[in-house]
Amino acid sequence: MRTYLVTGGAGFIGSNYIHYMFKKYGDDIRIINVDVLTYAGNLENLKDVADKPNYTFIKADIRDRAAIEKIFAENDIDRVVHFAAESHVDRSIENPEVFVETNVLGTLVMLNAAKKSWELPEGGFKEGKKFLHVSTDEVYGSLDNDPDAYFYETTPYDPHSPYSASKASSDFLVKAYMDTYKFPANITNCSNNYGPYQFPEKLIPLMINNALSGKKLPVYGDGKNVRDWLYVEDHAKGIDMVQEQGNLFETYNIGGHNEKQNIEIIHIILDTLLELLPESDPRRGNVSEQLITYVTDRKGHDRRYAIAPDKIKAEVGWYPETMFAEGIKKTIAWYLENEDWMANVTSGDYQKYYEDMYKNR
Ligand code: NAD
Ligand code: DAU
Repeated sequence: MRTYLVTGGAGFIGSNYIHYMFKKYGDDIRIINVDVLTYAGNLENLKDVADKPNYTFIKADIRDRAAIEKIFAENDIDRVVHFAAESHVDRSIENPEVFVETNVLGTLVMLNAAKKSWELPEGGFKEGKKFLHVSTDEVYGSLDNDPDAYFYETTPYDPHSPYSASKASSDFLVKAYMDTYKFPANITNCSNNYGPYQFPEKLIPLMINNALSGKKLPVYGDGKNVRDWLYVEDHAKGIDMVQEQGNLFETYNIGGHNEKQNIEIIHIILDTLLELLPESDPRRGNVSEQLITYVTDRKGHDRRYAIAPDKIKAEVGWYPETMFAEGIKKTIAWYLENEDWMANVTSGDYQKYYEDMYKNR
């Protein structure tokens, strides 16, 4: 039975990935989820799998070398899928340090622990071991002026925010380990994900939550920044396909081929909410275009991201399966059905975060 060590599995993409993997492989795999449970980590995301005998949760910090080495020493890990990170650009602008500590130094700890556990005394690594580093298209910078330009795996790195700079640094460390030690790894650089269990600091769940409660919908700048949206389950599938069918040592871009301006996304959310909410639902009365409020732009705001997922399609056979119209409907239906989830994650610290982040906008 193959054993996976998933870092950051209690976050948005990590928890969707764990659900996807159990759906696909059932009891043929074992997953160890290592997560320190920051504000973004939520074990409620995994309550459906918590009791499975082939699932283990370990609360540990990827910056804690001893704790991570112990997990490798006590388990014969075949696959590492490394999601754990500080992931929100706005937070990185306010407080860059933790982004470097977790995203750069934490990744270094993961690489060293896997290398130590997997390397053979005679050189090289144990057969079949693989590390996948989950990264972002933001490392490539911004496609500002040319609407026909795309991010390719060969696009030079040009990160702008402290978040993307920290992810770029971690990518370079993984590349260095592959080049220097022939460490068996892949890197995936993905576009914006959407779907269930996303923390409402990110555009889509934040707008859904605010619209339902009649709060302003804060649009940064002119609302015309473009993101390339990918349904999270398609991303999970892409990660698994890269690890099993991709060529080792390669980077693969994973993107939805689904570019939309932020303001378009907000209109789609409002329309879909009105379509899905029954007339009798009291939240329906709150949903209105009048909530749209243009606010001060994000500092250093990247204008456009767009991935050409040609390489992953050609070499791995992956393509984005979920049309945005279908994915956003499923996503909004999930948030409507999971009011308690939203209430829980927005209680406590979230209110303070929201006030601090949006007070001067
Ligand atoms: P998230 O913020 O929802 O989840 C991050 C998880 O990592 C949380 O469970 C958190 O508790 C955990 N974590 C943070 N610091 C940790 C530490 N020091 N030790 C152990 N666990 C720690 O993030 P996400 O949106 O699910 O993103 C997951 C990964 O995918 C990140 O590496 C991110 O850079 C990358 N990514 C995200 C997107 C996106 O659209 N969300 C797109 C491309 C790439
Ligand atoms: O491209 C991949 C990246 O996508 C990931 O690496 C990051 O982890 C993930 O957070 C995401 O980054 P973005 O900055 O693109 O996502 P965010 O949801 O924060 O913002 C999406 C767009 O919406 C962006 O142009 C900023 C804008 N925005 C965001 C918020 C939270 C608003 O206009 N208003 C808001 O309140």
